[in-house]
Amino acid sequence: MTYKDMPLDEAYRLINTGPVVLVSSVSKSGEYDVAPIAWACPAQKSPSRVLVGVGRKHKTFTNIEETGEFVVSVPNISQVEMVTATGSVSGADVDKFVKLNIKSIDAKQVDCKIPDGVIGYLECKLVEIYGNDHLGLILGEAVAAAVDTEAYDGDRLLCETPAGKAVHHLGDRRYMTLGDQVIQ
Ligand SMILES: Cc1cc2nc3c(=O)[nH]c(=O)nc-3n(C[C@H](O)[C@H](O)[C@H](O)COP(=O)(O)O)c2cc1C
Repeated sequence: MTYKDMPLDEAYRLINTGPVVLVSSVSKSGEYDVAPIAWACPAQKSPSRVLVGVGRKHKTFTNIEETGEFVVSVPNISQVEMVTATGSVSGADVDKFVKLNIKSIDAKQVDCKIPDGVIGYLECKLVEIYGNDHLGLILGEAVAAAVDTEAYDGDRLLCETPAGKAVHHLGDRRYMTLGDQVIQ
């Protein structure tokens, strides 16, 4: 094996390829927001917990800190333009649902709007915020969750079917989705 050195500001991309999630939130004055977050991972099985890394300057961070609620949803690859668009403006400046014409459904257990057409979502209550001055590592616990019946067969994501193809971020404006083979 031959290795080449990587720039340290790109090294994270080696492990950046989990699904991009959309984090929905609301301000304490009731303004809804949604933003793509690539730095997301599971953090507990039962009940499910998730960890998302959100810049403290983002409206998403302020909203979650204020309300203690958010939704983590998994967009389908067909929604990749919406992913880029929601990451290009701040909810501090615009209502993205209106400006970007994003159809939504209401979360049931938290006060958030979920983009319609996502593969599935976890409605979360804030457990803890870790991190530093720049990045908040937000730990949330699912209080409700749902998945597209065409994208999940009972105990796994059907990534080999169009309905189950998530968005994976390669850096900048490049994305990929999973292939059609499942190794069992
Ligand atoms: C594909 C993609 C992935 C992103 N991942 C993250 C991330 O993991 N953490 C983060 O803080 N910002 C991330 N961003 C940037 C935010 O989504 C972006 O700054 C957004 O406009 C913040 O919106 P808000 O101010 O309404 O919260 C990502 C953007 C894109 C397009």
